[in-house]
Amino acid sequence: MNINVKIGNAEKELTDMLVFYLYEDTKVVDSAFAYCDKMLNNAITELIKKKEFIAKLNKTLILPTYGKIRAKRIMLVGLGAKKDVTPDKVRQASGTTASIARDTGIREIASVIDSISNEWYQAYTEGCLLSLYKFQKYKNIPAEEKKELKSLTLLLSDKKALASTRMAVKHGQIIADAVCFTRDLINTPPQDKAPAVLADTAKKLARELDIQCKVLSKPELQKLGMGGLLGVSQGSNQPPKFIILDYNPNVKNQDTIVLVGKGLTFDSGGICLKPAKDMDQMKCDMSGGAAVMGAIKAISKMNLPQHVVGLIPCTENMPGGSAIKPGDIIKFHSGKTAEVANTDAEGRLILADALAYAEKYKPSAVIDLATLTGSCIIALGTFATGMLGNNEELKKRIRISGEKSWERVWELPLWEEYQEQIKSDIADIKNIGGPYAGAITAACFLSKFTEKYPWAHLDIAGTSWCDKNGAYTQKGATGVGVRLLVQLVQKWTRFPHKNTP
Ligand code: BES
Ligand code: MN
Ligand code: ZN
Repeated sequence: MNINVKIGNAEKELTDMLVFYLYEDTKVVDSAFAYCDKMLNNAITELIKKKEFIAKLNKTLILPTYGKIRAKRIMLVGLGAKKDVTPDKVRQASGTTASIARDTGIREIASVIDSISNEWYQAYTEGCLLSLYKFQKYKNIPAEEKKELKSLTLLLSDKKALASTRMAVKHGQIIADAVCFTRDLINTPPQDKAPAVLADTAKKLARELDIQCKVLSKPELQKLGMGGLLGVSQGSNQPPKFIILDYNPNVKNQDTIVLVGKGLTFDSGGICLKPAKDMDQMKCDMSGGAAVMGAIKAISKMNLPQHVVGLIPCTENMPGGSAIKPGDIIKFHSGKTAEVANTDAEGRLILADALAYAEKYKPSAVIDLATLTGSCIIALGTFATGMLGNNEELKKRIRISGEKSWERVWELPLWEEYQEQIKSDIADIKNIGGPYAGAITAACFLSKFTEKYPWAHLDIAGTSWCDKNGAYTQKGATGVGVRLLVQLVQKWTRFPHKNTP
């Protein structure tokens, strides 16, 4: 969809639908609104007076105008109480606007949501574009059922705000495009995103962005001693791949940020096979990797100054004849060993190699994203991503970026006491920690590979997938992580070098 920003008078705009945003508790004084209301014999104010339209968040009403003004229809959209409006509520309201317009069969709309900040315009743009996302590549849809909202015009009254609003809209477009790219990868059926396919997608992306991409295959992984990634891949017919995306590698006097993403293109559980119910959802187990790719796409399109590296270990976890078995011991890139007590705790095994590999970039910070534990879903549900890490300053930055982007994180403790649970009698550590605090013991495992740099782990098991549609999310992949990471890098300032635990 096209989003245009222009200076214009709403009452003169020739459009299929003119959209006004109203607060629940504040009288509208906008002159265009008053004019349209007057031309419609005060129909709008009457409806509001009679409480037939209450401007609660995401409530809408469409009125025909019968030729009394130039716009064919008027749509009212509620924002809720004025004092409670946040950028995310704007994101929701614009999402509601766009998806209802599309479902009504309208192809072009004009919106008046004036005198708000640039942050709001960016959120507004994101909401529109994200709400229109659908994953329909595999569906035969008859032409007459296809509906598309083709264009949205944002009408401004202040000429001075034009350039900065256009910039905010552009950023919103870049971010929404990256989130949709990530959602597409996650929603793709596992048969069409085997590690080699994902690696090709990364290469194609890198060509498009003109950034560097390297893919490590089995012989190189063997040379590097990546026993975690190789071990997990053993039970599958699909060979593992290790994707390295490198944005801005030659920049001077800038921090290096390494983003690590879990890339399990399908997690059956391996020999410790998962139950059949909902196993299909385990195609989402590469959500962390997909978010890293999407974030780098947006970061590169915004030309952000930092050096950003994406590391994505990719494999399937399958119960084939050569699969790793409970009781096996594997050796990682760092030289450490782990006893595999449960083959379904595979994410930490492939992340261990990637986190150890991250050291070679001498990073200022490393952030990993992973659909790592069911335990995190039990602890935090679907609205908060779990965060654990070894550096207060980094966690603080992520927490703030989460609030700003509305991809919020909640910290869980990574206290020394929990480390006890992953001790092994026969290897350095073991890959499960007992029935309690599973999200924490998984992070304890990762912490053994991140001692050399500031690190934060984001468990997105609960936030990467949704079971019902929202104002700007559809059933399936949410694309979580992209907005958060872009916000974090956008606001990045030189990181204090010392690790401050
Ligand atoms: N990929 C799963 C975690 C997961 C569960 C992600 C549900 C999204 C939705 C992970 O590999 C896993 O299987 N974790 C196990 C670990 C356990 C065996 C220690 C879990 O959480 O049950
Ligand atoms: Mn698993
Ligand atoms: Zn998994």
